[in-house]
Amino acid sequence: MNKWGKLSLGMLLAAGLMAGCGNNNTDNNAAADSGANAGAEAAAKTLVLGTSADFPPYEFHQVVDGKDTIVGFDIDIAKDIAADMGAVLVIKDLSFDSLLNELSSGRVDMVISGLSPNPERAEAVGLSDIYYKAEQAVVVREADKDKFATMDSLKGIKLGVQTGSIQEDIAKGIEGAQLTSLSKISEIVMQLQSNRVDASIMEGPVAKAFVKNVEGLAITDAKPEAEDDGYVIGVKKGNDELLDQINTTLKRLDSEGKIDEYVAAASELAEK
Ligand code: ARG
Repeated sequence: MNKWGKLSLGMLLAAGLMAGCGNNNTDNNAAADSGANAGAEAAAKTLVLGTSADFPPYEFHQVVDGKDTIVGFDIDIAKDIAADMGAVLVIKDLSFDSLLNELSSGRVDMVISGLSPNPERAEAVGLSDIYYKAEQAVVVREADKDKFATMDSLKGIKLGVQTGSIQEDIAKGIEGAQLTSLSKISEIVMQLQSNRVDASIMEGPVAKAFVKNVEGLAITDAKPEAEDDGYVIGVKKGNDELLDQINTTLKRLDSEGKIDEYVAAASELAEK
């Protein structure tokens, strides 16, 4: 069974628990996941990626050749950056709200995690050029699809969002909304399924992946507005050498049409 999806509530819970190991800075054995072999190349330069792998098709867990692996288009981009640097990629699966701290403390070298730029983040860390854009979406139980078709209809309702995300900020701006902030998207989905929240705001591609794979959910016509609909890569403030390298690789990938290719392949993988 090599899909993360078609999840029952129980399976979601199990997946959440499995992936949840990453919550507390547990390193994923990702050097192996990424196809690199850290053991054999102990002396090689490493590039440590921090990501929150709860986010198909950006980064998510999937069983590949019988092994739990972190995949997604952000991961493909990370591999290219590492390859262009001649470095071995090491992936750390962390909770989303810890990622920028991990950067600042030097425990990870770069963050690729569907990260949206905003002024506070630009203040705290170095941000790359935008590598991809997507819109925000509202996910509800299928029966409520028409009830929550506008942003106005979300006023005063129970909303589930990811802790530390821009969606949390968007939700805080909705009058009277009662927020439940959780560290993983799969946890939010469970809350939706069990009627503990009535809607969630998430990136369109992520919403699509979950709606495809989890029965009883739908995307409504409501259109949340974000400050910026692009994604960037974070580095430690002042690490301009790495930032230049990242921007160079992003430019190359973009001109070769690779990013769109990665997005298409990862979306297919996530929705399968
Ligand atoms: N784009 C949103 C933000 O930057 C959410 C990103 C969540 N990423 C993740 N891998 N869970 O706040």
